[in-house]
Amino acid sequence: MSVDRISRVRGRLSMATQLAPRPNVTSGALDPATRSTGTGDSELLPRAPLTPRIAVALHDVSKVYPNGRRALADVDLVILEGDFVFLVGPSGAGKSTLIRLLVRDEVPTSGEVFVAGSELSRLGSRAIPKLRRQIGIVFQDFRLLPRKTVRENVAFALEVTGTPRRRIGPAVDRVLALVGLSDQAEQRPSQLSGGEQQRTAIARAMVHDPKVIIADEPTGNLDPLISWEILQLLLRINEMGTTVIMATHNAEVVTALRKRVVGLEEGRLVRDEVGGYHRDS
Ligand SMILES: Nc1ncnc2c1ncn2[C@@H]1O[C@H](COP(=O)(O)OP(=O)(O)OP(=O)(O)O)[C@@H](O)[C@H]1O
Ligand SMILES: [Mg+2]
Repeated sequence: MSVDRISRVRGRLSMATQLAPRPNVTSGALDPATRSTGTGDSELLPRAPLTPRIAVALHDVSKVYPNGRRALADVDLVILEGDFVFLVGPSGAGKSTLIRLLVRDEVPTSGEVFVAGSELSRLGSRAIPKLRRQIGIVFQDFRLLPRKTVRENVAFALEVTGTPRRRIGPAVDRVLALVGLSDQAEQRPSQLSGGEQQRTAIARAMVHDPKVIIADEPTGNLDPLISWEILQLLLRINEMGTTVIMATHNAEVVTALRKRVVGLEEGRLVRDEVGGYHRDS
């Protein structure tokens, strides 16, 4: 990688770590960007994000598993807040490994992984649950608790993080409405279709109001029509401001949507384009 490229990645990373948390109206009054200028009309405005901020970045990341298998090699990647990114590549290319690094299920052998402004290898064990609340993760096989209802599966994600009971009910209702499952809230996973199970898993991933949703083959177990429904849901979540990273083998979906596509092959980043055009990241 060229020095120029390293400095560009570094520059973006420092921008990510220096910038303030997501703009919001309540904190706006303390923010220099929204403080009154004396004209009186800027006070109530939320801060406009002048510079796009980084949701996720990998800097020169390699991953070699203990058995000697190299799953990622020299990967540089910057994903901005609000992006929708498809992660593609043949089986064994390293997609799931990259995702495991982002949620700190694995650590890189070398290089740095930044999520929401933190370099993950520097996080202490107590900071990891906090990181995971900023990321919602969705898997191919749903991973729902079979004995719990839809509502209980979603609520459980808040219970384990010690959320006060009075806040759990409204938060669960909100995400069940978002994914269109309010009427199935009392069903168990075995009483749901595959698409409904995946929507439950997406509700669970969204209930912390994460900055980033990472989905590893979320449509891999679903038929084409239901896959489109799940994709539409992820697009809607993205339009609401959440960054979405989705690993998929579904070439039809990837081609049709003309979103950013990051391709891995044998652990190397070999493609980064939007709408078929190379993207210089
Ligand atoms: N825990 C592990 N220990 C050793 N090797 C692993 C481990 N997990 C993955 N690998 C290897 O790392 C490489 C990348 O695997 P990974 O699961 O990231 O690929 P993938 O792109 O997600 O593939 P798929 O499309 O089949 O899900 C593969 O060669 C795989 O065998
Ligand atoms: Mg995988």
